[in-house]
Amino acid sequence: MSFVKSSKYVLSVGQICADLITICESYPEEDLQVCAQAQYWQRGGNAGNFAEVISHLGNKVEFMGTFPDMSKMKQSIMGGIAEARYCLAELDRARVSYEHLAFRDCQSFPSTSSVLSKTTGTRTIAHYRGPLDELTIEDFAVLDLNKYCWIHFEGRKNGDVMEKEIEIIQQHNSTKKLEDRVSVSVELELPEHASLAKLIPLADMIIISRYFARHLGFQSAIECVAKLRHQLKKGGDIVCSWGHLGAAHARNVPDNIEQLVQAVKPERVLDTLGAGDTFQASLVHARLNGLDLNSTVLFACEVASKKVASIGYNSVIGLGIN
Ligand code: FRU
Repeated sequence: MSFVKSSKYVLSVGQICADLITICESYPEEDLQVCAQAQYWQRGGNAGNFAEVISHLGNKVEFMGTFPDMSKMKQSIMGGIAEARYCLAELDRARVSYEHLAFRDCQSFPSTSSVLSKTTGTRTIAHYRGPLDELTIEDFAVLDLNKYCWIHFEGRKNGDVMEKEIEIIQQHNSTKKLEDRVSVSVELELPEHASLAKLIPLADMIIISRYFARHLGFQSAIECVAKLRHQLKKGGDIVCSWGHLGAAHARNVPDNIEQLVQAVKPERVLDTLGAGDTFQASLVHARLNGLDLNSTVLFACEVASKKVASIGYNSVIGLGIN
């Protein structure tokens, strides 16, 4: 598929959650008390982070996912209402729309506690999803796909639903001219969602983490894309990121040769939380702006490197291609 520049929306499908972030000099030893250097809240969730970044890069974007019906939430020890309100306000601030949230009767809001270590640059995540269930086909079917140019799926555990959602998009595309088709990207991130590998032949762009690639038995990014590229749909892209070792990419087109793009060394490493989501949003932004795949991956490495040098996502504002 060749991507066509469009003023339509990008839709980011997945979750948002409330992140409590603690910055420590180094990762604390178990069962000790340490003094943190900073602690603050941030709206999190892969699809939420993706949406904020691609908005900052200059795309119109909507977030879609399940969300507690706040009118039915009771104040409880689990909290939730304040976090839910805060996350919506943060989407507003980032100019991410969310008109198709799928509301659920649920008494808690997904949240994460993350420790950022200044010494090693790691981010250690303990995530609580709670009883909030995942999106269904019925939720997805309310969308008018004419509104969107690209739909990005966070890799979640409802792979069967994601497969059907992509089929709905394919059906829509089969009746449309090239410039009106919706492109699809899928994130393959966590090994526990290994069944998502069945989506590899369905998306226009597969974005695979080193954890997922290792789980599939690959020792490097380049090996991963070289071995998986023939499973992609015709014309599809695959990108595999491997942290400071860079990112490899390949396409399922004749004569394509897989390539490795070096990581861009950040000025300093301050906040790696959401660096992968930033990388993914930058890939989609660049592809939508007509960059070839190698330039796209280079651009995404540059934006991700700017992101990790400062806290949160504001540092990517103004980096978009226009
Ligand atoms: C980062 C992140 C955090 C969130 C966690 C679990 O990629 O999305 O914002 O708390 O992963 O989804």
